[in-house]
This record gives sequence, structure tokens and C-alpha cells, in this order.
Amino acid sequence: MPTDSPQAFDAAGFLASVGAAAQAAQSTAELDLVAQEHLGKRSALAGAHKVLGQLGDEERKAAGALLYEARQGAEALLSARRVEIEALERQRQLETDRLDLTEVVLSSVVQPISVGHAHLIAQTQAELEDVFVAMGFTVAEGPEVETDWYNFEALNIPPAHPARGMWDTFYLDLGDAETVVLRTHTSPVQVHLMEEAVRSGDPRLHAVMPGRCFRRDTPDARHLHTFHQIEGLVIDEAIAFVDLAGVIQTFTTAYFGPGINSRLRPAYFPFTEPSAEFEITCTICRGEGCRTCSQTGWIELGGCGMIDPAVLEAVGIDHERWSGFAFGFGIDRCAQMRHQIADMRALVENDVRFISQF
Ligand code: PHE
Repeated sequence: MPTDSPQAFDAAGFLASVGAAAQAAQSTAELDLVAQEHLGKRSALAGAHKVLGQLGDEERKAAGALLYEARQGAEALLSARRVEIEALERQRQLETDRLDLTEVVLSSVVQPISVGHAHLIAQTQAELEDVFVAMGFTVAEGPEVETDWYNFEALNIPPAHPARGMWDTFYLDLGDAETVVLRTHTSPVQVHLMEEAVRSGDPRLHAVMPGRCFRRDTPDARHLHTFHQIEGLVIDEAIAFVDLAGVIQTFTTAYFGPGINSRLRPAYFPFTEPSAEFEITCTICRGEGCRTCSQTGWIELGGCGMIDPAVLEAVGIDHERWSGFAFGFGIDRCAQMRHQIADMRALVENDVRFISQF
């Protein structure tokens, strides 16, 4: 009898082989191959089927039933395994999708969240305060909205004084015309401190006063209409101009480091006498001359001078016994010079690409 004789077909062996192969298959594609191999045209089962016709009736019936059952059994095994494999494949797909999503989230779509930091101007103010605190100064603050008296009159600038033109002023309309201003400098804080000191009975002061100021200026590479100053005030017995020059020089070296020089040039302020302008080497060009320093090699940081006796008298300090000096300069200007920022307007444009550099 030939091996593919239907009567000799080993149904149990066939089903065991289908079961083992189906179990080994890990994908529907592999399972299709198993089905093709065991049930397809070239399978032993199909071979046995072909010779059924050569058998007698009885034999053909028995053999046909055997082959039929074998096929049914094989198909049951294959479809049970197919259900398992499809579940496995769905599981694998979910895993892959989940991993893909994670990759996308981390790399290209969502930028890593960065923690913010203090703005460069705030950092600079804190550094300047540190330098002066190390030199023995205290830190004080005053209001941004001032009366005309604090911003001008107490500082020896009476109404209609020509020096008022030095500060293009924003006035607040609170009733009486031109009596309340957005402070144009931090010098009015000097007046508040002196008044307090007089009330406490001891006019001695060594303080710096940082804060925001306002001027009706058109912004350019070196000016903002809303900017920051730090004021300095020293009042004691026997204070002289050399003390002022010493403080300015010590500050310049401490904050800007070696290679940046300071110079004082004669100037005029109504509240100091004598007065000077305080300049430092332009850090953009290191003194060579450039657009930022208008080709001079120097950048003006602010003003200073010995407190005018008229200012001491206005707050009730005896100018025969006490003397002092004051200075005031731009915090934004310091940030600009320290970090070589060609155009100061970048400080307030809030472009994160710029701001995050500091
Ligand atoms: N307040 C002056 C200004 O802003 C600067 C200054 C301060 C000058 C203290 C002298 C003394 O222009």
C-alpha cells in the first residue's frame, strides 16, 4: 500500500504534527504556512484524498470519514491558535505604538520644560547691591510715583528752573496740573532717607537705592523710557570729594573687573556741587570707539557730586556740621556694559532666545 493510501493515513500523528507546528507559529503569516503545509494541495492529506476514488465503496466511506475528521480536527487546532496569535499581535502592536508615542513626545514635539530665571536686569540689580553691601552700604527703596517736591524742589530744582529740561518728565494727571510725576531718577529717595534720618536724630547715612525710573525719551541703543538706576548717598562728618572718587573707583573695579577704567568729568546737577559725570571704558569696543559709545570709547553710567548745602538745608540737616556725596547711575547700562549688549532695547523686547542667554 502506498504511503498516501487513505486507509493508512495516520490521523493521530497528523493532528499531533499540526498542533505542534501551530503552537510554534508566532504570527498569522507563519500559521498560514502551517495550514498550507498540512492542508494544502501538496499535503499528505490532499495526497490521500486523491486516491480515495480508487477504493471500493465501503473502504472509500471509512477512509473519507477518517480524512474528513482529520481535516476538521486540524482546522479546529489552526483556528484556536489563530485566535491566540491575533491577540498576541494586537498586544505587540499596542506595545509598539506606545513606545513610538513616547519617543515622539521626548524628542521632537514637546521641548523639554526649562525652569525660568531672574531677568538680567533683576540679576544685575542684585549684583550691584551685593557690591555696595560689601562696601558697607545699606539698601533702601522709595516710591515710583513722586510729588514734584521730592523729584525736583527738595533737590534744589524749583519750578521753572531751566535744569528741569534735563529730565523729560511724565506727569500724572491727578487734579492739580504737574504736581505728581513718575520719578525721573532715584534721587528723590535720597530726600526720603534724609527726612527719616533727621526724624531719628542722626543724619548719618550710607545707603544705596535701586529702582525703576521713567523719562519721556525715545528708546535707542543706550536709552529706555522705563529704566533702572541705583542711587548712592553718604552723609557724615568730614566727607570729601576724594571719598566719592574712591567709592566710584572701587565699585568699577569690583563690578566690571580689571581693564575697565572709570573717569569723572565736570558736569552740572542742581543738587550737587561740585558735580561730575561718571564714565567707564566702553566694553563693547574696549575703548576703541564704536556705534554704542558714539565713537568716544567711553560710556556714561551716571552722575555724582558733593551734596549741595541747599539740599541739606531743605530737609533740615546742618550743612556746617554734616557733608556728603551722592551718585546715581543706570542699572540697565551696567548690564549692557557687563554683557556687551550692543543695543539696550534687547533687554525689554522679551525675546526668549536673548533673555535665556543670561
Ligand atoms: N539723578 C541724576 C540723574 O539721574 C544723577 C545723579 C545722582 C547726579 C546723584 C548727582 C548725584 O541724572
